[in-house]
Amino acid sequence: MRIHGDLVGENKTMFGEACLKVIKARNDKFPVGALVLALSGWQTHYLSKDGKDLRPIPFDLDTLSPSVSLGVLGMPGLTSYFGLRLLEAKAGEVCVVNGAAGAVGSLLGQLAKLKGLIVIGFAGSDEKCHWLTKDLKFDYAFNYKKISVDDALKQAAPKGVDVFFDNVGGQFFHDMITKHMARFGRIVICGAISTYNDAEIPKFPQTHLQILANELTIRGLMVMSYDKEFDTALNEMAPLIKKGDLKFKETLYEGFEKMPEAFVGLFKGENIGKAIVKASNYP
Ligand SMILES: NC(=O)c1ccc[n+]([C@@H]2O[C@H](COP(=O)([O-])OP(=O)(O)OC[C@H]3O[C@@H](n4cnc5c(N)ncnc54)[C@H](OP(=O)(O)O)[C@@H]3O)[C@@H](O)[C@H]2O)c1
Repeated sequence: MRIHGDLVGENKTMFGEACLKVIKARNDKFPVGALVLALSGWQTHYLSKDGKDLRPIPFDLDTLSPSVSLGVLGMPGLTSYFGLRLLEAKAGEVCVVNGAAGAVGSLLGQLAKLKGLIVIGFAGSDEKCHWLTKDLKFDYAFNYKKISVDDALKQAAPKGVDVFFDNVGGQFFHDMITKHMARFGRIVICGAISTYNDAEIPKFPQTHLQILANELTIRGLMVMSYDKEFDTALNEMAPLIKKGDLKFKETLYEGFEKMPEAFVGLFKGENIGKAIVKASNYP
């Protein structure tokens, strides 16, 4: 299966989701002024031929910014919701999440805490780790640039990790499988940001025997496969956000021309929570 080839490439509009305000309308479902979601890509204006590619925001915003429909109550929030479900985690189990201060990881960890798990996050700065433990109540957060996964988990999960939500892939994934998963552990692969830019795919990871011996379950997650359940999930999550039981941050870039900077920033760890670009022509 081709993963990125159909979405990105030379002479293609860069892929992406946006929250758009309708400025001209010939469709009663979407009057002028309405906010809609669309996979419109990196464009300042978007023309929908028949409205079938537009989705209304499926929950009441109240005092929330429309940007939440792209973050905590959008695709990243949904990814964490269905990701936790796939992990089949039980209260008291040990959960590791990397990319933990990002849009998906920060929510996955909080949902796991609400379920009674012991949550260990890995992120790329002390500031991010402080946010995870102090505000989001993760049990542990480690700056992976300062401490190895092995040393961190010797401290925080000496008996092994029951569930692992992987946003990073590569060496981190390899270390988890070969050294840290508990027997009957479950892994959800959500992303592999440490390898997205690799020119060569590493060959033959030495993981088979550990998967076999520890009887691990490894699942891939594609959030779009759950689209029929999106509205149910969002209506469950929205009250948690409004009550403050689920906290979130957004890193805001002002101006459409900041799209490349915001995108590259994801690979440098410049965002905390969801990276949002607000177009200056957004009415
Ligand atoms: N499967 C799905 O349906 C689905 C849906 C949404 C997103 N995703 C994937 O899930 C992952 C998280 O998405 P997100 O929206 O939450 O992104 P994000 O975490 O908001 O941003 C990416 C973060 O990854 C970390 N990172 C970047 N390079 C890294 C590296 N080499 N090693 C370790 N960490 C690195 C950075 O934080 P640090 O400072 O911690 O390094 C960065 O802030 C991504 O891989 C994304 O592609 C998958």
